[in-house]
Amino acid sequence: MSEQPARTLVTSALPYANGPIHIGHIAGAYLPADLYVRYLRLRKRDVVWVCGSDEHGAAITLRARKEGTTPRAIVDRYHEEMQKAFLGLDIAFDHYDRTSSKEHHAFAKAFFLELLEKGAFTEETRQQFYDPVEKQFLADRYIQGGCPKCSNDSAYGDQCEKCGSALSPEELVEPKSTLSGVTPELRETTLWYLPMERHEEWLRTYLADGKLDGEAHHDTAAWKAHVLGQCRSWIDGGLQSRAMTRDLDWGVPVPVEGAEGKVLYVWLDAPLGYITATRNWAEKKGVDWEPYWKDKDTRLLHFIGKDNIVFHCIIFPILLKEHGGYLLPHNVPANEFMNLEGDKISTSRNWAVWAKEYIEDFPGRSDEMRYVLASIMPEQKDAEFTWEDFQSRVNNELADVLGNFVNRVIVLSSKYFDSKVPNASQQRTETDEALCALLASTPDSVGASIEKFRFRDALQHAMALVRAGNKYLTEEEPWKVMKTDPQRTADILNLTLQVTANAAIVLSPFLPRTAKKMAEALGIDHLPWDAAGGEVVPAGQPLGALPILFEKVTDEQVEEQRAKLGDKKGKEGMRDVENEKGQTTFDDFQAMDLRVAEVVAAEKVQGADKLLQLTVRTGYDERTVVSGIAEHFTPEEVVGRKVTLLANLAPRKIRGVVSQGMVLMASTEDGGLKFVTPEEGAEPGDIIR
Ligand code: MF3
Ligand code: ZN
Repeated sequence: MSEQPARTLVTSALPYANGPIHIGHIAGAYLPADLYVRYLRLRKRDVVWVCGSDEHGAAITLRARKEGTTPRAIVDRYHEEMQKAFLGLDIAFDHYDRTSSKEHHAFAKAFFLELLEKGAFTEETRQQFYDPVEKQFLADRYIQGGCPKCSNDSAYGDQCEKCGSALSPEELVEPKSTLSGVTPELRETTLWYLPMERHEEWLRTYLADGKLDGEAHHDTAAWKAHVLGQCRSWIDGGLQSRAMTRDLDWGVPVPVEGAEGKVLYVWLDAPLGYITATRNWAEKKGVDWEPYWKDKDTRLLHFIGKDNIVFHCIIFPILLKEHGGYLLPHNVPANEFMNLEGDKISTSRNWAVWAKEYIEDFPGRSDEMRYVLASIMPEQKDAEFTWEDFQSRVNNELADVLGNFVNRVIVLSSKYFDSKVPNASQQRTETDEALCALLASTPDSVGASIEKFRFRDALQHAMALVRAGNKYLTEEEPWKVMKTDPQRTADILNLTLQVTANAAIVLSPFLPRTAKKMAEALGIDHLPWDAAGGEVVPAGQPLGALPILFEKVTDEQVEEQRAKLGDKKGKEGMRDVENEKGQTTFDDFQAMDLRVAEVVAAEKVQGADKLLQLTVRTGYDERTVVSGIAEHFTPEEVVGRKVTLLANLAPRKIRGVVSQGMVLMASTEDGGLKFVTPEEGAEPGDIIR
């Protein structure tokens, strides 16, 4: 099973066309696939990599609603924008498609009909949640509530993004409509369901033993533990039937008479987008698409983030198998999440590094971001990106090791040997032998790691060769040896030039731009993997010009990037439903003692940048309230203000100070804070109701 397949079809999760691409997306499903595919291309293997925009589902309609525009306008905008972002980071799909196209609709409808005919679905009339205010059925992201499996209190109707569980609306604890906030009613509607419980047995064998239809299918040991773990716990929890259609007007219409107003569930339609994309790619190329999806000697790989695991390892395989004739995934190398500067990446809070903005701020420096993301890729567990770490990796590893090494090798060779690769004698020292041995083994170590989806390791192997070359050069001191022994100098430089060339080859999936510059400096126009491990640049070959590979990242740049985080300027329309709360009761409201108060004194809380300690007059007492407003207001600015106080909040000790109540603030779209100030004439103690 480990021998090479005839061809490989790689897919990356179709990103929802509802917002810009950030580094969490890149590190999750796109960079790893890009590295893998670039490597296979280097090895001259038959590989196709497809992706596209996921343009249906509530992610899109909710965004459109929030921005007061149409789903069509949203998907058109982001379909363009996302492609630019990918391009900026040299994420090079063979084909990028979209699911709102005519071709995709036609294909998805035909696929659905085939499934229907084969008896894969059951048609059932059941009670569904319905929003009486918005007059709409609620599923997926239209409904939120407590996750039955973890502590997340805002899980969606189809999934908890915190623990990854796939859910059904009826499982949510205290469900609320994300449209109106009301508690939904139950109403009957007829939908098509996928009875997943029918598939438990073969899925278990497929996932746990890597067997399908009694035959060996894939090596389960090659699957990531967290992927198998999630699937196992899902199956162990008991598979249930799941609705495959929705009462919505945006999506692929259900191609059945009498099903007006119903569309395919986005998680049925979107994965089929992989097939549409492959078909369109093949048509463009003038080749047959079918072997890529149907020939047993093809390997199908889905690169995704961990929140997509059950859809790719369970639901989509069921659909493919029920349809028949299609391959099932050989592996699903899902990544975990990338956090940012100590917090979860969040679009609504602008706590993200946007691909587009990175490229604008660091033009031509996509390799640096690729390098850092590959170094810290969340392969087995969540990882964290910080700008300080970015700076240190770029400066200490790329500039000081790789850049410095290549620079010295090219400068010295040009100077001493007339810009040509010098002739090496056959005499090798022990140190030479050691470096040669590392050089010989590096391509295999890099390749083997990539084939196991261990991109961090692969990059470390490649960089180990560069580090060894750099150290060798420093220790051998060719600039001194030249005075007494030109042949030894030639030997040293010849070897380091081979190291440079080998490094360019093995690093090229990670650093495509840098590898190209390195090749130019070596006077070669392609990077042949076949030659890696030995001599790549022959003696006498003219060298090219000295490249500047990396600039250092300055402290100012780090500061600037950090300052952008959480700043919502220019991010209009980015407020997300996450922040919208469901309904509350009149009783809950009545239970709050809200009143007008006046700030009579204020001071900073020692050792806490964000906190002010306020003394407020409530009309019946004076008390201390600790408020997180110090970054927005000085103590002088708040003294004398009338504020709105939640007076009966249970006292809490904050940084050693007991806070008795809370001053209400409005947080503005641009990340600022404003006092909720009672109108002129209101006095401390006045009740707010
Ligand atoms: N749009 C989904 C997301 O961003 C991924 C869809 S993957 C596909 O989470 F398989 F459905 F295409
Ligand atoms: Zn959960």
